Amino acid sequence: MSQRLTITRPDDWHLHVRDGEFLKAVLPDTAKRFARAIIMPNLKPPVVSVEQAQAYRTRILEALPSGASFTPLMTLYLTENSTAKEMEKAKSSGFIHAVKYYPAGATTNSDSGVRQWSKVEGVLEAMEELGLPLLVHGEVTDPQVDVFDRERVFIEEQLIPLALKYPKLKIVLEHITTASAVKFVLTANSNVAATVTAHHLLLNRNALFQGGIRPHHYCLPVLKREKHRQALLEAVVSGNPKFFLGTDSAPHAQNVKENACGCAGIYTAHAAIELYAEAFDSVGALDKLEAFASFYGADFYGLARNKDKITIEKQQVKVPTELPYGGQSLIPMRSGEYLLWSLVA
Ligand code: DOR
Ligand code: ZN
Repeated sequence: MSQRLTITRPDDWHLHVRDGEFLKAVLPDTAKRFARAIIMPNLKPPVVSVEQAQAYRTRILEALPSGASFTPLMTLYLTENSTAKEMEKAKSSGFIHAVKYYPAGATTNSDSGVRQWSKVEGVLEAMEELGLPLLVHGEVTDPQVDVFDRERVFIEEQLIPLALKYPKLKIVLEHITTASAVKFVLTANSNVAATVTAHHLLLNRNALFQGGIRPHHYCLPVLKREKHRQALLEAVVSGNPKFFLGTDSAPHAQNVKENACGCAGIYTAHAAIELYAEAFDSVGALDKLEAFASFYGADFYGLARNKDKITIEKQQVKVPTELPYGGQSLIPMRSGEYLLWSLVA
């Protein structure tokens, strides 16, 4: 019989599910594997108020397949117009768990993001007081900075000073991609953590140019050199609770990915835990998967760990070349190729 692994049902601490027909198309993939997910607020228009988050939460619950038990953990999008009062409302709502910082212009629907930290000082003080985590897209947007250096420069120029200025603020550096980010998280206070995607654990930047340009491997922060992938792998298998699972699964229709100016985002929700298992297995560390996927994130967010289990097995399974996506198509990671692990129904 093939090798099987049963773990506590995991949570996804960074997920894009979009809205409307797109939401209906992708949500079942996540709900099949995960109990909860932190839902990114970069819709158009962004989710900036408690009211908008509540309405979005309702749409997500309505889009769930019947019988699914899945809890969306909502977030607010930080803008220069955010207020401390809205943060208090968010905290007391019980369904908003974090606030997302996008540097203005850094990525998909980030135009409403923050240009100057000084504009959100009062809001960050309130969040620090309330214990409401700040989720950080950690890249500078200066076009003069090399795209492969934008995470490192952000950490040096903005995040280190920020963490010093708000020493009790809970910070999650999202989708880390570099050895610099690993080092930052390791040396920071215990209230600083990071999410790591499956694609950044499995791919390096060569995947962008494998026999030609590969738009479906384009995401932000962009894939980095092999030495950085190795640093991420080492961090997640170390068993350090500061590193936990966040897929950043980010669906875009095929036509906007295969485009002269293609969107950033890799869709991994169709095989998320399977892809993480492959990464951990590649370094003989499957015993470290459960805590990374199912314990550390919940502990950081102050939520109870899940009780039920899922089982995966080491069984090759072919990924469809495309998935339906609201009348369009979505090209999933490993499209037309094999996963090494599969979910046992
Ligand atoms: O690759 C990405 N896609 N990175 C982001 O930061 C945003 C995301 C999206 O929303 O498509
Ligand atoms: Zn994201």
